[in-house]
Amino acid sequence: MNILTYALVLLTLGGCNLSDSKSPLLFREIFSGIQPLPTNGVSNFEQVNSLILAPKCLRCHSASGGDEGGLNLETYESVLANLSFIKAEVQADTMPKNRTKLNTNEKALLFKWIDAGGPLQETTTPPVEILTYEIVREKVLAPRCIGCHSDEGGNRGDVNLETYENVLSFASLIESEIISGSMPRPRNKPLSPEQKTLILKWIKDGAQKE
Ligand code: HEC
Ligand code: HEC
Repeated sequence: MNILTYALVLLTLGGCNLSDSKSPLLFREIFSGIQPLPTNGVSNFEQVNSLILAPKCLRCHSASGGDEGGLNLETYESVLANLSFIKAEVQADTMPKNRTKLNTNEKALLFKWIDAGGPLQETTTPPVEILTYEIVREKVLAPRCIGCHSDEGGNRGDVNLETYENVLSFASLIESEIISGSMPRPRNKPLSPEQKTLILKWIKDGAQKE
């Protein structure tokens, strides 16, 4: 994440905590019983769940709530599989349906978590990743592309993505397919925001082998 965005989120979240009350954080915590929004780093699933999903969404998106819209948000896996849809609905204020929309802090917390790929555990420092072909292959190409783009998978569209050299020669095509959202094929689950960022950054940085 770029340092400006990071500072902005810190300011937004931190600023609100201050204006809520003049008393020290711990004091307020004890008396209100409310967990403060994290002021640095990305939240973990537990925080997102207890601050946002449980109070604002599970009434309708749970088995007991009837899984409205065919969507259950009770498990980490189902939330993870729907990150981009959740973000889109909340951003457009169409969810929570017919209820008070999420406030600025809640949105910032949720979106920051989603943009980080929805981590299960808290990440206190933004990860600094040196992107290599191995990482991109392991996290994106192997699980999401090679099934169709390999000898065994029939080299769909005459594209084979099994070797570094092949991936390199298709780099700009891969980039445009991913930006337009047409790969993986629309019927398949879209890439997670983390996977998208990873492969696009790798290509932008010159698609280094090591
Ligand atoms: C009062 C009930 C209710 C609450 C609360 C609610 N939803 Fe929904 N949600 C629905 C219904 C009903 C649908 C089906 C589509 C529609 O009717 O708009 C839906 C659909 C969705 C969809 C799928 C949209 C699609 O087009 O497939 C997402 C994603 C979603 N909700 C996310 C959330 C999130 C995130 C929250 C909490 C911040 C939330 N919802 C809170 C009732 C609710
Ligand atoms: C379910 C099978 C499937 C998966 C998974 C899949 N593709 Fe494809 N891909 C195809 C088919 C079929 C075509 C050719 C038809 C088309 O272009 O729509 C294609 C074409 C392409 C092309 C060439 C487009 C062009 O204009 O010639 C690229 C590049 C590509 N895929 C990259 C990827 C990447 C990167 C991934 C993983 C993020 C991926 N594909 C995942 C089936 C798949």
